[in-house]
Amino acid sequence: MSKPKKIGILTAGGDCPGLNAALRGVGKTAILKYGMEVVGISSGFLGLLHNDYIPLDESSLSGILTLGGTILGTSREKPFKKTHHLANEKPQLIKKNYEKAGFDCIVCIGGNGTMRTAALLAKEGLNVIGLPKTIDNDVWGTDQTFGFDSALTIATDAIDRLHTTANSHKRIMVIEVMGHHAGWLALYAGMAGGGDVILIPELDYDMKVVNKYLKKRVKSGKPYSIVVVAEGIDKPKKMSAATYIAERIEEGVGIETRKTILGYIQRGGSPTPTDRLLASSFGAWAVDLIAAEDYGKMVIKKGENISALPLDEVGGKLRLVPADHPLLLKGRGLGVCFGTKEGL
Ligand code: F6P
Repeated sequence: MSKPKKIGILTAGGDCPGLNAALRGVGKTAILKYGMEVVGISSGFLGLLHNDYIPLDESSLSGILTLGGTILGTSREKPFKKTHHLANEKPQLIKKNYEKAGFDCIVCIGGNGTMRTAALLAKEGLNVIGLPKTIDNDVWGTDQTFGFDSALTIATDAIDRLHTTANSHKRIMVIEVMGHHAGWLALYAGMAGGGDVILIPELDYDMKVVNKYLKKRVKSGKPYSIVVVAEGIDKPKKMSAATYIAERIEEGVGIETRKTILGYIQRGGSPTPTDRLLASSFGAWAVDLIAAEDYGKMVIKKGENISALPLDEVGGKLRLVPADHPLLLKGRGLGVCFGTKEGL
């Protein structure tokens, strides 16, 4: 009878709803299905650098399915980032501490940066499994990351609320959502929230097209308009997307315009049922890979199925909204303006 495996789990990068559901999926499957030992690693990769661990057992994992954030804490520590005085020391220190802790494998839960670090640690000889999470939904290789559905729900609720106040004041409302360099949140929340204009980083926009469209709405008697912008669109560095676009609209259309930057509200609170299910499934799948010693993989969702891809294929590649995405095509047909010259 081989010794039960000992696995470490860490959460890294921006937090999101569903992280604790994923921890619970990994931990409970490891303990109950395989009798493994489970250790939480504090604050992402910092915990591996400082041997900062939290033993996890059934009781520490109970009651966290619905809890936002991460009970382990997180950080944006990038151990492979070349800093002059610590060129390659951090990865070697992580490898030493991984061996000292007696881990058979570590599960790294995070976004693009975390998957890149996980792939590099696998190359250094560590047994690693990656679980893709982020509200940005921009991890190449998987159709969906957990965190996205919760942020989408929050952003859509916010847009719904803006309709009533915009209508009361006959204003144009600009709302900025997160998404880093990708437009998934803006596209999905904009379409779900009935946005009239949706601007995403993947499509070059022209303010003349936007303002012409908004003026046409005014002329046709529409009492207000909703403009949804992704934080990563092209705009002056020192200005938020919402501020930049709201100013251009007020100047160009001559209608009172207000802005809302949704910010970190999109990352807070309890995960939606979809994210709880996705995170739990990802976690359970990760442990089955570990039990089979099928390391160096990232768990993914393709259609309705969960599977896995080699980390060195994924390693932090960005997944952006394609120009022919069905929501873009259907959106144009519904009269949504994406600010592009050829479109509305
Ligand atoms: O990656 C998630 C995310 O919320 C992005 O959408 C956003 O641009 C970024 O993190 C904010 O980073 P931080 O939490 O370090 O301010």
